[in-house]
Amino acid sequence: MSKKIIAGNWKQNGTLKSSVRLTKKILEALKKNKCRHEIIIIPPAIFLLPIKDLIYKSKIKLGAQNVSAFNNGAYTGEISGTMLKDSKVEYCLVGHSERRHIINEDEYILSSKVSQLIDNDITIIYCFGETLSEYKNKKTKLILKNQLKKLFLSNKNNLKKKPSKLVLAYEPVWAIGTGLVPSPEELASIFKFIRNTVNKMNKNYSSIKILYGGSVSEDNAPSLIDTEYIDGLLIGGASLIAKKFIDICSTI
Ligand code: PGA
Repeated sequence: MSKKIIAGNWKQNGTLKSSVRLTKKILEALKKNKCRHEIIIIPPAIFLLPIKDLIYKSKIKLGAQNVSAFNNGAYTGEISGTMLKDSKVEYCLVGHSERRHIINEDEYILSSKVSQLIDNDITIIYCFGETLSEYKNKKTKLILKNQLKKLFLSNKNNLKKKPSKLVLAYEPVWAIGTGLVPSPEELASIFKFIRNTVNKMNKNYSSIKILYGGSVSEDNAPSLIDTEYIDGLLIGGASLIAKKFIDICSTI
């Protein structure tokens, strides 16, 4: 099996103590079980620096959950791409369903965030996916195509400069945190569609990796990863429990 990306999005969970403990457990387990995949942990922003100090000699990469849409300046409460780069953050989520639907981030904001990250050489993990009602109304492919068009054909972001700095993460909104996962047939068809859609937009995009996220567990990870065109997994809840995250990393 080719090298996959396994990313753990810790969301707004944990304390400094529990985050350090979780990181140490992952580090210890990785010393024992040789995992050849690329592992990324994505803690809350306030824990990025202490965790960076724990993992800097390991192969684990550090990701942020969010970035400001603006350059450094008078934007109270925001963390800029330059600051993330300075803190050795290599990946950053953009477009996660919780930020689109709870924080109400629109395409304009998402494009600005993409630009900030490209300018700072940070790899974007760009999340997209349909809601439950869109899924029920059989609009999944239409919605995904529109979301991808907005990302790739936007004149507002500078992605064309460095397409290698993008990873896509297909996350059906109805699968996040619900225990529900698309059927193997649905996933095969959707991932083929995403791959073709991306390739058609620009031949330079053919090596962009595409992850699956939404209720990934140690039980379903092996079959998910066997799906054609799935290049890795974005894991929420299961990444908060060291044993589950490690089992996922070592069983695929
Ligand atoms: P989940 O979350 O694995 O808990 O469903 C995935 C995500 O939100 O990235």
